[in-house]
Amino acid sequence: MHEVGGVPRYEDFPDPVGGDGDVLIDVIAVAVEHVDKQIAAGAHYASKKYLSELPMIPAFDGVGTLPDGTLVGFGDLRPPYGALAEHAVVGSRAYAPIPDGIDPVVATLLSTAVTGMSITTAAGFVSGETVLVQGATGVAGRLAVQVARLLGAGRIVATGRDDDQLRDVQALGADTVINTAVSDDALTQAFIDAGNGGYDVVVDYLWGRPTEILLRALIPESFAFAKPTRLIQVGEAAGRRLTVDAASLRTSGVEIYGAAKGFDAVTIGEAYRRIVEWALSGELAFEMETIPLSEIETAWQRTDLRGRRLVALP
Ligand SMILES: NC(=O)c1ccc[n+]([C@@H]2O[C@H](COP(=O)([O-])OP(=O)(O)OC[C@H]3O[C@@H](n4cnc5c(N)ncnc54)[C@H](OP(=O)(O)O)[C@@H]3O)[C@@H](O)[C@H]2O)c1
Repeated sequence: MHEVGGVPRYEDFPDPVGGDGDVLIDVIAVAVEHVDKQIAAGAHYASKKYLSELPMIPAFDGVGTLPDGTLVGFGDLRPPYGALAEHAVVGSRAYAPIPDGIDPVVATLLSTAVTGMSITTAAGFVSGETVLVQGATGVAGRLAVQVARLLGAGRIVATGRDDDQLRDVQALGADTVINTAVSDDALTQAFIDAGNGGYDVVVDYLWGRPTEILLRALIPESFAFAKPTRLIQVGEAAGRRLTVDAASLRTSGVEIYGAAKGFDAVTIGEAYRRIVEWALSGELAFEMETIPLSEIETAWQRTDLRGRRLVALP
């Protein structure tokens, strides 16, 4: 990528050079994610670091093989190098083996699936609770619906803005779906009706307008005690900011956490282990589309993925 906010193109780039203790990785598969696009656009808090030198190679993690053939997930590349390349060089603590039996392309989606586990790690979900997945038609949301089902959610409510895709999400385990592409009043009412007494946990990949309206919908209509809701902020597909009514915090008992809450080496390890177990047993469905890395320039600009992760194969 030659300029901030540009589109990466497939061309020769000098090979990365390692220092003491570094390893050379042959890259096999790299997921193209929002975060990579945000970084490349200069719109992410990590943009400054990753765009410090141009041209640069986007994507901060991927899957590849070590010189001895071991399949690993890797990250923490040193700018201007990124994962969307044939080779990567990383430090000795910046890779981990992928468990046997996991397809390398599926492996690129495991960390996205782990965000669904934040309902337990961040929000202390217990089986039987009602979970709302905001942005359930996206890659992360579809996985979160399945994770909530596998963890034993009592009821799953899922939002999206396309009825066809919301039907897919019902097939994945959502009990009730809400189309957010309606008027503010209609959406407020839809959140109240679908909540049927409230939501225990919200896993939020949208933020912006839909979550602003959700928070308003959680305000009780009388001086009754509200059912507390634990909302986990994970993504911002619908907006980076929102306005919170004072009354919604004062009266609804809503608690807002970042997805990183509760994640440490032990809890991430456990969350990852569960995701791998479900991936191996086929209980978790991963939706993706592979492209040769040579097509990255057109693939980067695609908007027709409908819940499938684009995975580039160098
Ligand atoms: N923290 C983490 O580790 C982590 C990991 C993965 C993802 N994320 C974040 O989570 C978010 C979703 O990621 P993803 O990979 O699932 O992306 P995705 O597959 O592109 O899905 C995006 C979702 O947001 C919906 N959406 C987009 N713009 C919207 C708008 N203006 N109003 C309402 N809905 C809108 C999309 O609906 P349509 O399908 O109708 O377009 C889709 O459901 C992103 O912000 C991403 O950065 C965070």
